[in-house]
Amino acid sequence: MQNILSVQSLVKKFGDFTAVKNISFNVEAGSIFAFLGPNGAGKSTTIKMLTTVLKPTSGKIIINGFNVLKEQDKARASFGIVFQDSSLDDELTAYENVVYHAVVYKVPKKERTERIQKALEIVGLWNRREDYVKNYSGGMKRRLEIARALVHYPKILFLDEPTVGLDPQTRNSIWDHIKKLNEERNMTIFLTTHYMEEAEAIADQVAVIDHGKIIESGTVEEIKRQTETESLEEAFLKLTGRNIRDDNGTSRKRMMRGMGRMR
Ligand SMILES: Nc1ncnc2c1ncn2[C@@H]1O[C@H](COP(=O)(O)OP(=O)(O)OP(=O)(O)O)[C@@H](O)[C@H]1O
Ligand SMILES: [Mg+2]
Repeated sequence: MQNILSVQSLVKKFGDFTAVKNISFNVEAGSIFAFLGPNGAGKSTTIKMLTTVLKPTSGKIIINGFNVLKEQDKARASFGIVFQDSSLDDELTAYENVVYHAVVYKVPKKERTERIQKALEIVGLWNRREDYVKNYSGGMKRRLEIARALVHYPKILFLDEPTVGLDPQTRNSIWDHIKKLNEERNMTIFLTTHYMEEAEAIADQVAVIDHGKIIESGTVEEIKRQTETESLEEAFLKLTGRNIRDDNGTSRKRMMRGMGRMR
């Protein structure tokens, strides 16, 4: 199997503090890879390095055959990114937000209109394209960010907490869209989420990061076997000694009620 992403000995220091401590891993082309860890583990910092937002202190990153540090433009054309914090322009319409992105990413002018329509249709927002983003709900904004990240036909899509703060129905629908992209376009998906049941349902490969180090990786089945647990949630607890949502304000009870409704 070919690797679309290869990370070697990646380190990120902020002053004296090392947020990412020499991590290495590969992601197979066409797979869904879940990068899981408690708050502050180093997930977003890693994603920012993979997507050229942050410069690594040391290490090597290859995306789609391109060295991310040396061939930034080619690497950038290979991936789409949905950041943990929204980066939409509220004062523009949904359509305008996507156009802007298509221009920045140099989507050929002839193909722009069609690709934008397709991207908006995939996330069910084509009919709402003329709405101002400031009038969108949280779930619609998230879906728009996904549409925007798709418009230059990336080989790999990075999603940092695509479903945080959304209701179970919306979360479900976002995962459905993501799964469809993976299956129909063979798009590799690299995601983070605090919802272990969602990761368990969708991921081919999982890596668990804590305090900047990868402490476990493999398929969901392999991780459950290694930790002698029956769910990824339990495995995560055993590995990190923490519940994934203990310190980010979402109570486990509330989350479990939500998941109950989702099924
Ligand atoms: N620009 C920065 N300057 C200093 N420290 C930073 C900076 N960015 C991140 N950190 C620190 O690096 C660590 C990892 O942060 P990061 O955002 O990668 O965590 P995360 O795994 O994405 O967490 P969450 O699940 O809460 O999103 C944290 O301790 C954070 O405070
Ligand atoms: Mg984060």
